[in-house]
Amino acid sequence: MILVTGATGFIGTNLMCALAEKDVYPVATYRHESNKDKIAALFISKFSDGKERFDKIIWRKVDLRNFPSLNEAFEGITHVYHCAAFISMAFRDSQKLLEINQKGTAYIVDLCLKNNIEKLLYVSSIASLGTDPNLNTIDENTPWDNNVDKTPYAYSKYGAEMEVWRANQEGLDVAIVNPGIVLGPNSPIEKTFNRVKNGLRFYTPGRSGYVWIDDVVFVMIKLMESKIKAERFALVAENWSGKSVIQAVLKACNKNDKIIKASKGLLYCLWVFEHFIQLLGLRKRFFTKALISTLFDKRTVNGEKIKSYIDFEYTSIAKSLENTLNPKSI
Ligand SMILES: NC(=O)c1ccc[n+]([C@@H]2O[C@H](COP(=O)([O-])OP(=O)(O)OC[C@H]3O[C@@H](n4cnc5c(N)ncnc54)[C@H](OP(=O)(O)O)[C@@H]3O)[C@@H](O)[C@H]2O)c1
Repeated sequence: MILVTGATGFIGTNLMCALAEKDVYPVATYRHESNKDKIAALFISKFSDGKERFDKIIWRKVDLRNFPSLNEAFEGITHVYHCAAFISMAFRDSQKLLEINQKGTAYIVDLCLKNNIEKLLYVSSIASLGTDPNLNTIDENTPWDNNVDKTPYAYSKYGAEMEVWRANQEGLDVAIVNPGIVLGPNSPIEKTFNRVKNGLRFYTPGRSGYVWIDDVVFVMIKLMESKIKAERFALVAENWSGKSVIQAVLKACNKNDKIIKASKGLLYCLWVFEHFIQLLGLRKRFFTKALISTLFDKRTVNGEKIKSYIDFEYTSIAKSLENTLNPKSI
């Protein structure tokens, strides 16, 4: 039996739907009863018998910080998709990020070993790829450099990956995907798109790797079903600048507004201001120097490796953005 952690999240929900298309109904973890509704709604919109299919899911209530709840969720499990994580770029969330993402993954891999799980598919991130200042393009082989400061989220996902590799050394079959920013209806990045729709007109000149949700889920299932193991795959279709993405969002909502480049100096002023506010005890800070560097980083991520392992082509990012911003367009 398959276990999907984070089944109520963006990637988890889409994975559950893709598995249901193959008539596979895993054990799914949830935290809040109301979040199951997201899967119910997706099933009902995708399948004529969506309600019956939804009822076949076995739900287990789990918090990654609560080992006993995880232990119970593993009963009868043979394969694990670990999608659950906390996503935040805020410095104030550092501790929570490590607890949920790194320590929670350590619990998961220990339980995989204890229960002789046949394979673990871990959803990591391009945030945990290495950074070689001398390279313009990074990939799965770029070494992690401890001298380069990273966001708290990146440290937590890198730490989680280390736990997965540790379990691999101890005999667990694993495969890891490292997606870029995942596009699709209800994706976490939609919050940023909504801010743009509501008047945010600043951009930073850095580039990011993007990928379409169906491509991520397709690769995850293929990797789980294959004999491929002890490999990680950056999943990036194309690298787009912040400016191009904001322009695409504005075009989709028929706005032709001018957008303004935010300077590094401005963001450093905000960083200093936040320190001051935090010292006064008014608000814990959001910005880190590492986040500012990321927003100005023009390096690209190469997501081609996966194509030499499975028969696969990425969906274009123009099409993915169109379908995220206007879900009925394709
Ligand atoms: N979205 C992206 O662009 C992107 C890009 C690269 C990598 N990733 C990775 O992909 C994975 C899934 O991301 P997503 O986009 O689906 O995020 P999401 O929509 O925020 O979903 C996160 C899931 O994790 C669950 N979760 C959070 N804290 C938990 C805890 N303490 N215990 C148990 N479950 C917990 C959430 O449950 P609730 O529903 O109860 O909150 C939710 O089901 C994450 O590992 C993320 O790092 C995402």
